[in-house]
Amino acid sequence: MRSCSRIKSNNRPRIGRIERITTDFFKIKIRQFQPNPPNPRSIQLESETIMTKAKQWRVGIIGAGTVVTYGHIPNFQSIDNAEVVALCDVNQARVQEVATEYGIPHAYTDYREMLEKDAPDIVVVATPNVFHKPMTLDALDAGAHVLCEKPLALHYADAEEMMAVAEEKGLVLTVGAHYRYSDPVQACKAHVDGGFLGKVYAARTSWQRRHGIPGYGSWFTNREMAGGGALLDIGIHALDRALYLMGYPKPLRVVGATFAEFGPRGEGLFDWGADGVDRGVQGVRFDVDDLTWAQVQFEGGSVLHLNVAWATHAPEEFRTQLYGTEGGLLLDGFDKYMLYQDLDGKPVDITPEPPYGSGVSSYRRLVENLVRHLDGDPDAEIIPPEEALIGARIIDGILRSAESGREVAL
Ligand SMILES: NC(=O)c1ccc[n+]([C@@H]2O[C@H](COP(=O)([O-])OP(=O)(O)OC[C@H]3O[C@@H](n4cnc5c(N)ncnc54)[C@H](O)[C@@H]3O)[C@@H](O)[C@H]2O)c1
Repeated sequence: MRSCSRIKSNNRPRIGRIERITTDFFKIKIRQFQPNPPNPRSIQLESETIMTKAKQWRVGIIGAGTVVTYGHIPNFQSIDNAEVVALCDVNQARVQEVATEYGIPHAYTDYREMLEKDAPDIVVVATPNVFHKPMTLDALDAGAHVLCEKPLALHYADAEEMMAVAEEKGLVLTVGAHYRYSDPVQACKAHVDGGFLGKVYAARTSWQRRHGIPGYGSWFTNREMAGGGALLDIGIHALDRALYLMGYPKPLRVVGATFAEFGPRGEGLFDWGADGVDRGVQGVRFDVDDLTWAQVQFEGGSVLHLNVAWATHAPEEFRTQLYGTEGGLLLDGFDKYMLYQDLDGKPVDITPEPPYGSGVSSYRRLVENLVRHLDGDPDAEIIPPEEALIGARIIDGILRSAESGREVAL
């Protein structure tokens, strides 16, 4: 028995400054679209005293690279009934250093040994993409729930197999597409679900970097290990953000094109990645995309344009735009959004004032929702298998279309 927290919802999107017109009519109209009852997606924990028995979730992490040090380790460690009990990395010096820094009791260089000796309840897979499938299957086999980093696998068929195994074993398998949990995305979702946009018939989503090729010459730029470049690395996030807001419609066909104009010349680089080895430019393997464009068509006729780039001579952007019959929205960057509508036949731009929610990071929300889901909280929202698989099917289709030069039916 222990003292735990009561859940309190408090983050209705607040509509703030109106840039062009302010009328009473407008204010009334906005109030109408505030979610009611309050949106349970974003919750804040209020320290109150309800006595309950909570399972202590033991977490084992495979991969001690860049992402786990700011994503998984600190966020699991910040949850009352979760504990990171073990960490594994083939790089012995690195796993020991990270385990010591974060006070993780057990460090391994062989993940199978970690699964056997520590038997974690939850396993995080955060290694080069090629290992996601075998590590996830081994963790499921060992009876653990799995949070697998994106992409779930290199190919759709592998992702489908992984989800089928998880279902068969009655275990949770979810993926690290955390941006959907951010406050502005949650606020936008409430506007879409509340009807502000009317029928959404088109969307445009992009993540475009100027100099943003990660891990140059490491697994990141090697197709056999990564499965793809910009598309599988950041395109997945841009895609999930749009599909989540669109309600994950069923994709019917896709056409895509990929390019590698910067990477092969050793240009457009950025210093992400635990490897950190400067290999120079000569002899470096770069056989993935550094720019991908695609168009997806969905059942019901709606369309989505995706534009993703690791390196470009173009402005940096992370933007998701939805076009609806009654209104539109633009998510601009990580923490800001705009709404668009006509009032009395005149166009109105609305700039909601941040903060839009509790300010909790999207990574924290990802792991918190997973733990709450495992605790049996019906309001916890994890990324469901159907959505993870739709994303994987679209990515697979884009790569096949780019290779064949033809539209691909999904
Ligand atoms: N969701 C997100 O926002 C996000 C952000 C960054 C990375 N990622 C994903 O997380 C994963 C890791 O990315 P990263 O940026 O941390 O990469 P990284 O290169 O920094 O780290 C990968 C680590 O895995 C280790 N490793 C390699 N083979 C291993 C094995 N067989 N067993 C154990 N450890 C092994 C490496 O030694 C390295 O320390 C990738 O799949 C990436 O796509 C997700």
